[in-house]
Amino acid sequence: MKELALITGASSGIGYDMAIELASRSWDIIVVARREDQLNQLKSEIESKFQTKVYVWPMDVTIDSNIDELQAKIKKNKMFVSVLINNAGFGSSGYFHTLDMDREINMIDLNIKALVKLCHIFSQKMVENKRGNILNVGSVAAFQPGPGMSTYFASKAFVLHFSEGLNEELSKFGVKCSCLCPGTTKTEFFDVAQAMDLEASPIPSMKSSDVAKIAIEGIEQKRVVIIPGLFNQLMAFSIRLIPRWIVRKFVKFLLLRRANIE
Ligand SMILES: NC(=O)c1ccc[n+]([C@@H]2O[C@H](COP(=O)([O-])OP(=O)(O)OC[C@H]3O[C@@H](n4cnc5c(N)ncnc54)[C@H](OP(=O)(O)O)[C@@H]3O)[C@@H](O)[C@H]2O)c1
Repeated sequence: MKELALITGASSGIGYDMAIELASRSWDIIVVARREDQLNQLKSEIESKFQTKVYVWPMDVTIDSNIDELQAKIKKNKMFVSVLINNAGFGSSGYFHTLDMDREINMIDLNIKALVKLCHIFSQKMVENKRGNILNVGSVAAFQPGPGMSTYFASKAFVLHFSEGLNEELSKFGVKCSCLCPGTTKTEFFDVAQAMDLEASPIPSMKSSDVAKIAIEGIEQKRVVIIPGLFNQLMAFSIRLIPRWIVRKFVKFLLLRRANIE
């Protein structure tokens, strides 16, 4: 049985860098995303630097039949995925009632449905083998409502709560589930979310390579909630002490006013 890691959304940003971090620790990796050329570029970069194998499996994980094929391929190749990283995700910005509904539903399909399905499939084998790590990528958005990005923030709140719940269920079987909650990170995210103004806001941005390193170290240290960067940790903590109505107004100011969405 070949033991390896699987990362979704590895064609750019934090997922790309987490693949490099894992490869530097000698992990063989299955990399998943829709853009095959970007995944092949990652494979060349990793295989030229490290003695590890990268399997490029391009697919859209929101399509149920693709997940079924992925599962069948893993079985056929006698692979055991002992590290699962559910990183693929995207956001949208603007007044919810003006946004494209199909895109909002597709976001829920990716950020929530695909993540839940993959956790279900791979946690079963991990429990059987009495070991494994799941890392679900949430966001600091998980800690409060997000007027101006309401669906995205709510999807990440799901990811955080689901991951913490799973961790408590799975730990007695030797399996850990962590949630990575990055703050603003320089990736293609803001371009995809059509929220470039937010990236340019005074909130400090982190490099995706730094976030990726903290994420993989967090798994090694068996941390359940991993928040990269002191600023983001302080934000996530202080939000608990502030009345919710103030938090809502503050986030509304940041997301709608600052981004000139009025
Ligand atoms: N950047 C930030 O400030 C920030 C902050 C907090 C949390 N996050 C979270 O971090 C994660 C990674 O985002 P990122 O910042 O690295 O942005 P990114 O560079 O846009 O990466 C998103 C990844 O998801 C993949 N993806 C999108 N739709 C997919 C689908 N249907 N099937 C398979 N893969 C899909 C993309 O690849 P393809 O387009 O090739 O499919 C890409 O590899 C996301 O979950 C995001 O919500 C980001």
